[in-house]
Amino acid sequence: MTHPSIVILTGAGISAESGLGTFRDEGGLWAQHRIEDVATPEGFARNPALVVDFYNKRRAQAHEAVPNAGHTALARLKAEHKGEVLLVTQNVDSLHEKAGSTDVVHMHGELASALCANCGHRWNAPLHMEVGEACPACAQPTARPDIVWFGEIPYHMERIEEALSRADIFAAIGTSGNVYPAAGFVQMATYVGARTVEMNLDPSETVALFEETRPGKASVTVAQWVDDILNG
Ligand code: APR
Repeated sequence: MTHPSIVILTGAGISAESGLGTFRDEGGLWAQHRIEDVATPEGFARNPALVVDFYNKRRAQAHEAVPNAGHTALARLKAEHKGEVLLVTQNVDSLHEKAGSTDVVHMHGELASALCANCGHRWNAPLHMEVGEACPACAQPTARPDIVWFGEIPYHMERIEEALSRADIFAAIGTSGNVYPAAGFVQMATYVGARTVEMNLDPSETVALFEETRPGKASVTVAQWVDDILNG
């Protein structure tokens, strides 16, 4: 196949070597905070200050973080591969963009964006968001982090599913395969005959569904995989 169409899904593991915590590793974010308190609409309604503070802390950390060789390799692939490359991330940091990737599909939202719960307007989030900030469009005090919380619908699913239906290669990088619909992308890719590869530090929940696995740190495995694709 001359210029295969590639769909990539990244998770928290690709940003681990940039110092950003993952969710389900030892001591991860979900060991420090209750999901129902900081990552659900009900938690936000119950205690908006706790939720806004949780994302302010992660936004400040992400702001300081530097992309690692995994992010840089994917930016190189997007720039140099002659076939289509769709980079989908579950991550809410901007490290793919800082590494030079454009058109990154943030299916779980992003720390850099704010959302109006009243009118749906989006704008660049301030580094430090306050509770009840006014929406620049409708002026209501209904600003919230533009993050897809548990129980909400992930973004850009039509575009992702359309790309998966045409994929020749699907790669999952740094994700534990615990959260759907992202964890189901490998089955969709397999169904259309795509080659599938997992690059993860530990085997994910869905490792058995992948044709190929490249265990190890993303800064090493992703750079090697991109070399193999570009020199293939
Ligand atoms: N290189 C590669 N993989 C790594 C590295 C590394 N340096 N460090 C950790 N990993 C792997 C772990 O083995 C784990 O399988 O990254 C994975 C991280 O898994 P999770 O913490 O579950 O993160 P993720 O899969 O992205 O979570 C998905 O769950 O809580 C929600 O919305 C949140 O987007 C998140 C979603």
